[in-house]
Amino acid sequence: MEPQIIATTPFDGQRPGTSGLRKKVKVFQQPHYLENFVQAIFDTQPELNGGVLAVGGDGRFYNREAIQVILRMAAANGVRKTLVGRGGIFSTPAVSCVIRKYKTQGGIVLSASHNPGGPDEDFGIKFNSANGGPAPESVTNAIFERTCTLDRYLTLDTPVLDLDHDGSFMLGAMEVVVMDPVSDYAALMESLFDFNAIHQMFNSGLFRMRFDAMHAVTGPYAVAILEKRLGAPPGTVMNAIPLEDFGGGHPDPNLAHAQELVALTEGSDGLDFGAASDGDGDRNMILGKNFFVTPSDSLAVLAANAHLTPGYKTGIRGIARSMPTSQAADRVAEQMGVECFETPTGWKFFGNLLDAGRITLCGEESFGTGSDHVREKDGLWAVLFWLNLLAMRQQSVADIVSDHWRRFGRNYYTRHDYEGVDLAGAEGLMDHLRILLPELPGRQLGDQTVSYADDFAYTDPIDGSVSSKQGIRIGFESGARIVFRLSGTGTEGATLRVYLEFYEPDPTRHHRDTQEAMAPLILIARELGQIETRTGRSEPDVVT
Ligand code: G6P
Ligand code: ZN
Repeated sequence: MEPQIIATTPFDGQRPGTSGLRKKVKVFQQPHYLENFVQAIFDTQPELNGGVLAVGGDGRFYNREAIQVILRMAAANGVRKTLVGRGGIFSTPAVSCVIRKYKTQGGIVLSASHNPGGPDEDFGIKFNSANGGPAPESVTNAIFERTCTLDRYLTLDTPVLDLDHDGSFMLGAMEVVVMDPVSDYAALMESLFDFNAIHQMFNSGLFRMRFDAMHAVTGPYAVAILEKRLGAPPGTVMNAIPLEDFGGGHPDPNLAHAQELVALTEGSDGLDFGAASDGDGDRNMILGKNFFVTPSDSLAVLAANAHLTPGYKTGIRGIARSMPTSQAADRVAEQMGVECFETPTGWKFFGNLLDAGRITLCGEESFGTGSDHVREKDGLWAVLFWLNLLAMRQQSVADIVSDHWRRFGRNYYTRHDYEGVDLAGAEGLMDHLRILLPELPGRQLGDQTVSYADDFAYTDPIDGSVSSKQGIRIGFESGARIVFRLSGTGTEGATLRVYLEFYEPDPTRHHRDTQEAMAPLILIARELGQIETRTGRSEPDVVT
């Protein structure tokens, strides 16, 4: 079968953001739009020619069409073999697992993560490298550069491919292997966690939990692992059937979007444990009875207790957290005598540290936690990690976290989001802060004294690459911090994120209401950023 050469012209704005190219479905549906981006991947990644490529997505609207386009183009561009999840489905961590297990030259992930799906909603595509992780900026920049000059792409003229049955077939000279999207991933989880201990906990009948798959990709994974292998009662996984529009919901596991689950953990009859994952299965939210574990605390707790699980019993090498994530993990690292890294927002920045063996665990405030087992954050992994801890410690979630605070002190933490604000206003706010930076150190703001103020820049300790302008950090002498950053994942307008934290060593003050405890710092942030004047918003849209 001869490749067809299709003439095309560049589209503006195909620059991948924090996590790949994300646009409205309608944008992707323009003739040649997806094809151009995919061709830019093949043109800039020569190792794919003659190599193996994993492909799959979170099943959102347009996933099926996109997979067909990508497979035909892969065959036309000389890929030797593609590994595709049945139905075109792979969770993001499962793609990473498959790339690593089968040593493929890379993978293409179709997802817009936690953004809503459907004909009028979002779609996304990203390239993962041979280490299983999101391509580094050098690669995404090269892909973008290529999209600006492209004048043709290669494809094959074939009927619709059947991807709904396991097995393999030839597409031109390329072998397409359609595989169960769950089994390799489930085997990896079983190698890391004490499935017997978790099984016994479910068998006792005393432990009640729900996992909310939010009608997204983790449904089949969670049913297979929690209900089928670990013996959790049927129905433990709620919203388990993946839907192309996620049932009209917003598949983002946080207090605002997983309210149904949150409600089940509340009250005197609340569940012992609640957990949720997002559209593509890489995020997680952890809840105990009447208790929300912030992602920042979750990372710190997992690090401090990792030795209780089979996969991490020999200890951890180091920890990394994204810059806006609270410093709770730093305290654990310090006590354990291991390195702690502060990276820019975006999972890709952990890749080099993981590959170099400098860190074992990493996490972000944006509900992402993971380890060196794959090169993506991993929602179900975090849930299984927590289940393993609960089974070993025989304590409630709240008790485990309270113990942690007693031992390390508590980093009170909150994030305020101002969504869909005017781009110029949001950029104006950031510019205004940048101008203020030099004069802030030493200044008294409310009851706090500024110790440093900068626009965060990161030099990768492994390859020396520099990423600048990653968010405004204002650190106070007390250890408190305010961070201002514009979201890199939105598809409309701008989202201003304000991240706030302060350190409380005194255990008698560990159980205050977070917003109340943080009110003075919140006020400082509002005034310093002139948030209301510049965004026109007096209150944040989402508080987590
Ligand atoms: C994606 C990335 C995360 C990152 C998050 C930040 O989910 O995979 O690594 O933390 O985006 O999103 P934001 O909207 O704050 O740029
Ligand atoms: Zn995601």
